[in-house]
Amino acid sequence: MKFLNAGESHGKCLIGIIEGFPSNFEINVEAINKELTRRQIGYGRGKRMSIEKDKIEIASGIRFGKTLGSPISFTIKNKDWENWKIPMSSENIYHDEGISITQPRPGHADLSGAIKYRQTDIRNILERASARETASRTAVGAFCKQLLEHFNIEIHSRVVNIGGIKDVEISEKGNNFWDEIELSELRVYDKDIESQIKDSIDKAKKEGDTLGGVVEISISNIPIGLGSHTFYDKKIDGILAQHFMSLQAVKGVEIGDGFKCADNRGSKIHDEIFYENNFYRRTNHAGGIEGGITNGEEILVKVAIKPIPTLMKPLNTVDFETKEKKEASKERSDVCAVPAAGVVLENIAAWVIADEFLKKFGGDSLEEIKDNFNNYLSYIENL
Ligand SMILES: Cc1cc2nc3c(=O)[nH]c(=O)nc-3n(C[C@H](O)[C@H](O)[C@H](O)COP(=O)(O)O)c2cc1C
Repeated sequence: MKFLNAGESHGKCLIGIIEGFPSNFEINVEAINKELTRRQIGYGRGKRMSIEKDKIEIASGIRFGKTLGSPISFTIKNKDWENWKIPMSSENIYHDEGISITQPRPGHADLSGAIKYRQTDIRNILERASARETASRTAVGAFCKQLLEHFNIEIHSRVVNIGGIKDVEISEKGNNFWDEIELSELRVYDKDIESQIKDSIDKAKKEGDTLGGVVEISISNIPIGLGSHTFYDKKIDGILAQHFMSLQAVKGVEIGDGFKCADNRGSKIHDEIFYENNFYRRTNHAGGIEGGITNGEEILVKVAIKPIPTLMKPLNTVDFETKEKKEASKERSDVCAVPAAGVVLENIAAWVIADEFLKKFGGDSLEEIKDNFNNYLSYIENL
């Protein structure tokens, strides 16, 4: 599969195109919109989230509720377009030069982007660099989540820490674990920790500051054999890391025990192999991937998110035109977007896993893919 997306943060709409999505998958548009809503909520989000109520409008690739195998395309309208149609007009209309943004924000693409693309108005950079773009990537992933559901593959996210305040260690995930996470505004498990984090977000907000954190992505019921050891760009850990790193504000990706492995002996961090009716492990330090191939265990990836770089108590910068010392510009902004980043990462993971799944079990239709998958499962069951 391939996907393309386009759209500026305050432009008319976001656009997504998915090419190669197989036929005969029933698409639940409400479930896609639900993912878009999950991306928008979470304690610590800015005012913009209350303006937007994102919904996709499908333009092609689906007929009577089912995919056709042809390119799927969709739009997500900017509900605030009325207020932006002049400052973001695609036509060469008269506009007040005073609307230009010339104070680049540290931590953003503002300065490097303006220099690279020879712009004097930083809005020409920040509009596309903004994480608003992730709404269309979330929708693309939401289609893929529906594809993966047919094969029982589940993808979830939880917040591990925000601003250094850690949720409790999770050794076993009980039956209702993900329902509990879904009920938390911060996607954490422990209620006391949740209220401590809320206080810390409130405090940061009062002080014009922002917070980052760590999320964990869990992918379960994944078959052995997605990805490959045979070539650098086929390794599924590398592919996941690249896609996760491409999300705005992500600064680290850790597969399984990750950095902890470096401090331990080999005997402590590798997952011994056992056999009873089939091969199995008693531990999962590797996070479900060995040699660039899924090993059938839950894929666990931790992702570090930096604090939001737009501060209401702005950092120092230099005016792009006058070269005078200035305060960085302030766009309407979140205080903490860590839970939302988790939701986007789930959907990014869904894209990667669906794409790898189709490479292994690919066919033009749901039926053909099911046949391929079931054949492989019976081979595995008889090992
Ligand atoms: C879901 C989400 C929401 C974000 N919201 C904001 C925001 O409101 N204000 C802001 O300055 N940065 C926000 N960011 C982060 C910036 O887009 C990002 O830090 C910036 O584009 C620079 O890219 P980099 O951090 O990947 O280097 C958000 C990131 C994510 C994932």
